[in-house]
Amino acid sequence: MQMTIDNLTQQIGSTGTLQGWLQQKRASKGLFFLVLRDGTGMVQCVVNQEKVDETSWQCATQATQESSLIITGEVLKDERQIGGVEIQVSSVEVIQYVDDYPITPKSHGIDFLMDHRHLWLRSRRPWAVMRIRNRIIMSIHKFFQERGFLQMDAPLLTKNAVEGTSTLFEIDYFGNPAYLTQSGQLHGEVMAMAFNKIYTFGPVFRAEKSKTRRHLIEFWMIEPEMAFYDLDMNMALAEDFLVRIASDVLSECDEELNLLGRNLDALQKVQSPFPRMTYTEAVELLKSDETRLKVKAKEEELHSEHSELQQERTSNQQNYGRLKEWKKRRVDAREIEINVRIGEIEEELRNLPQWWSSAESFEWGSDFGGSDETLLTWYFESPIIVHRYPEAVKAFYMKRDPEDDRLALGMDILAPEGFGEIIGGGQRADDLTFLEEQVRRHNLPKDAFEWYFDLRRYGTVPHSGFGLGLERTVAWICGIEHIRETIPFPRMLGRLSP
Ligand code: 4AD
Ligand code: MG
Repeated sequence: MQMTIDNLTQQIGSTGTLQGWLQQKRASKGLFFLVLRDGTGMVQCVVNQEKVDETSWQCATQATQESSLIITGEVLKDERQIGGVEIQVSSVEVIQYVDDYPITPKSHGIDFLMDHRHLWLRSRRPWAVMRIRNRIIMSIHKFFQERGFLQMDAPLLTKNAVEGTSTLFEIDYFGNPAYLTQSGQLHGEVMAMAFNKIYTFGPVFRAEKSKTRRHLIEFWMIEPEMAFYDLDMNMALAEDFLVRIASDVLSECDEELNLLGRNLDALQKVQSPFPRMTYTEAVELLKSDETRLKVKAKEEELHSEHSELQQERTSNQQNYGRLKEWKKRRVDAREIEINVRIGEIEEELRNLPQWWSSAESFEWGSDFGGSDETLLTWYFESPIIVHRYPEAVKAFYMKRDPEDDRLALGMDILAPEGFGEIIGGGQRADDLTFLEEQVRRHNLPKDAFEWYFDLRRYGTVPHSGFGLGLERTVAWICGIEHIRETIPFPRMLGRLSP
């Protein structure tokens, strides 16, 4: 019987065959413990010299990390093991022996891992992240499909900018300039006038010269667009949407979240209603004395975590000589974690004073930077919605606040725990004259927008929408610092391969 690891709990007591790769191996007298991965999961396979033939024993002896294997055995229940089962092996066959697999359980720098992304994806952490990404994608489709939204594909090659002209990728379109799309929104608006409620789900491109933990050059965006929706309805939808994503991942990705060491409490707090505040209120909060105190408290917290980690590292080093081989490997792995975390802490400690000084001197009218968003999220445990930004920091298509013409009816949703903006959206300008004037003010070519103006000429209605950045969402849900780990093959400043 052919088996896959994800189904083993339903096959306890039966004998079958698994095909996969050797992730780890540990030897004991007359025994090998092989951790096999087959892409659907990991399982420990116990090879007992007395219970297998000589060929199988040789295969187990010679198999190295990432050797491809066929293993037959009986599925036994064992609560202590990953997945709650273990395989009592009756035969081992090797498809290919591997020499010198580049990614060992020992320490590797991030650049090395990114250069070997095509192999790194086989490791446990990327396994967990990619499966959560997949689960989020499923939730997204379900959420919108259940509500009667039509999924549409926006073009990737366009003649017009959507989100300002500074991040456009220009290409040669048979002698004329064209751009890789920054957002499917404008075409989404067209479809909303034809189908009422739609969403796009596709790649978008931003020629961002910024090298931050939140920026990719190519990323995936989900953009719902709804006819007859105002800003409040838009915010309510976005809120339900995020609650759904968090709860689906919590209920279906146990193993992956545990593997990543994700704090589950934090995800459980993604509940309606999200705190809402205007941009103006957010600015007051950001500059307040309370923020200064929060920064101070954070510094103290980081200092004590730093010294705890250093102590752990020192005591690990002192005991190292006395340890068994397999325990040494565990300590090696922990050492990597400690060093990574210490690096992060030191960087944060360097940044914090700058974060506070830029928050303190923040002036009404400017846009929030990444650090400002991070500080704002420290006040709340769930995502927060900030709305009514100064029109000057938002895109040309935003409707103005009828109560205050300096403001746009835009909203951003900031993910908690310092993650910051994951959603940007708002109510769209629905008046032709105003929109034409906006295109002129933003120095955009009027010709390229004639089709977009037509939506305001022929049956214009109030409408709204938003865009969710998939990778930023995956980073937040997984609790991982850097966006580069949230997409199989990240495109960043200075990285186009593999
Ligand atoms: O805020 P943005 O630029 O909004 C739009 O593009 C609108 N047209 C969306 C709409 O209303 N239909 O981008 C939306 C989201 C951000 O909140 C962020 O999550 C993500 O896209 N994002 C990025 N993610 C990764 N790398 C980048 N360089 C990103 N830029 C934006
Ligand atoms: Mg934005």
